[in-house]
This record gives sequence, C-alpha cells and structure tokens, in this order.
Amino acid sequence: MRDCDCIRLLQWALPRMRMRWRGFRKVRGQVCKRIQRRMGALSIQDVDDYRAYLVQHATEWTLLRDLCRVTISRFWRDKAAYCTLQKEVLPTLARQVIQRGDDSLHVWSAGCACGEEPYSVALAWQLALRNRFPSLTLQVLATDIDRDVLARAKRACYGHGSLKDLPTGWRNMAFSRTNDAYCLHQRFILPVTFRRHDVRDPPPGKRFDLIICRNLVFTYFDHKQQRAVIGHFVNALAGGGAVMLGTHEQPPADDRRLTAWPASPGFFALRGTQRG
Ligand SMILES: C[S@@+](CC[C@H](N)C(=O)[O-])C[C@H]1O[C@@H](n2cnc3c(N)ncnc32)[C@H](O)[C@@H]1O
Repeated sequence: MRDCDCIRLLQWALPRMRMRWRGFRKVRGQVCKRIQRRMGALSIQDVDDYRAYLVQHATEWTLLRDLCRVTISRFWRDKAAYCTLQKEVLPTLARQVIQRGDDSLHVWSAGCACGEEPYSVALAWQLALRNRFPSLTLQVLATDIDRDVLARAKRACYGHGSLKDLPTGWRNMAFSRTNDAYCLHQRFILPVTFRRHDVRDPPPGKRFDLIICRNLVFTYFDHKQQRAVIGHFVNALAGGGAVMLGTHEQPPADDRRLTAWPASPGFFALRGTQRG
C-alpha cells in the first residue's frame, strides 16, 4: 500500500472513530503496516476496496480501532516534565494530602502502556521523595485498554532503549539485568496496580491527587471525545489535584474546566481549586 493511499484511508476512517488525523501523522508507518497486513488477511489489495469492506461490515471498525492503537512509551519520557513532577508537583500534592489528614497519595495513570509511566512515578517517589514524606504511601492505579501491554507491564522487564532517559544512577539502583532485559525491583512494582479500563468510560475511581494522561486523548482523540474525557477527569480528581498531559498536548481551547498549574508546563488543575 502506498503511503498516500494509507493517508487517504486514515483521513477518511479516523474521524468516523472519533479520532483525528493530526495525531497520527508522525506514527502512521506502524499503523499502515498493520492495516496492510489486515488487508492481506482479507485478500484485499486496494485501499478503496478495504474502505468498501468497512462500509459493509460494521464489526471491522472494532478491529481497525485496535490496529490504530499506538503503544510507544519509555521511562521518564520528556525529562523536563518528569523533573517538574518530582521537584514541584508531587511535593505540593504530598503536602496537600498530609494537610487533609490522609496517609496515601493516589495517582491514576490512564493509557499506561507497558508500565513505563506509572513505574516512573514510583521511582521518583521511592528514590527522591519517600524520605521527605515518611507518613505517606504512594498508590498508583495504572490502566490501559490493551490486555497485551498490561501483561507486559506486570512483568516489568524492559529493553535498554526504554530506560535511556532515566536519571543517571536510577537504572542501576532500580533494575536487575538479565540477558538483554532490565527487570524492575519489587519495591518499585508494589505501589502500582494494573487494571484494564477504557479512558472513554467513567473513571476507575475517585479522589485521585494526580491523573496522568499523556500521548493518548489529547493527541489521538477528536474534540468531542477530549471534552468527554475531561468530564471524567473532573469527576475523578481530588480537590487541589493535578492533571499531567504530554509535552505537546493541551486541553481543547474552548474547554475551561482545566487551567494551567502555576509555573509547571504540562500540568493542569481544576479551575478554581489550584493551590500551586
Ligand atoms: C502512545 S501510548 C502512551 C503511553 C504513555 N502514556 C506515555 O505517554 O508514554 C498510548 C496508550 O494508550 C492506550 N490506549 C489507547 N486507547 C485507549 C483507551 N480508549 N483507553 C485506555 N487506553 C487506551 C494504548 O493501548 C497505549 O498503551
């Protein structure tokens, strides 16, 4: 399948799945390869024939949605954002939790891929913050729609490339090397619980101090779905809580329920509740 044919197909199909082409432009290569394989399995050569097949077979859309799932991630992805998380946002949230008399800081990582994101938070907490806040425990709920990535997340073993952005020394402290894989030590795994969940559904809990949703909703979903998911975040966030988005992501301009967290690019608070 030629690149221009795949682009044409995606530009037609994505809006029908409430997703947007803009998010897929850079990562279309892997998605197009999967679609090509699927067309091969159906003995369809031409993109227009696959389009006709989609029109005639409603169930094919579920499969196409799965083929369009991008699962790229790595530890400490976007160093500056994780530094802000560790040095500014988590300490502020920890103080708030203590002030309200609780003993756990609750985090939800939505679209957690193979665990790189929730484990990055566990690493920051255990290696840099736990001793400052000894009365607090960290509890991370990590969710994803994809059962395969969740199974890999629970194994917690990674290739070298997944760890290349981690702060110097943390890799040696937190992982054991076995053959070509780096496997995370148990004490960093324990604070994280994995669960299958679709971020478009009502949230998997309430009163999260931090919701992390990076490189998913605000990259791939259309405007209507972005607004719907913000509604779920509003219901799930504790007073004074923070939402962490990807470095190039913003809530939709016409949605004023989230507002920038003071001096922390990529972080947002519920309008009217931010403490900073
Ligand atoms: C590009 S990865 C981002 C991983 C991580 N948040 C990061 O920024 O490194 C997107 C993840 O979202 C998951 N995902 C896609 N659609 C989803 C949905 N509707 N609900 C929950 N997770 C979803 C994918 O399976 C994938 O693991």
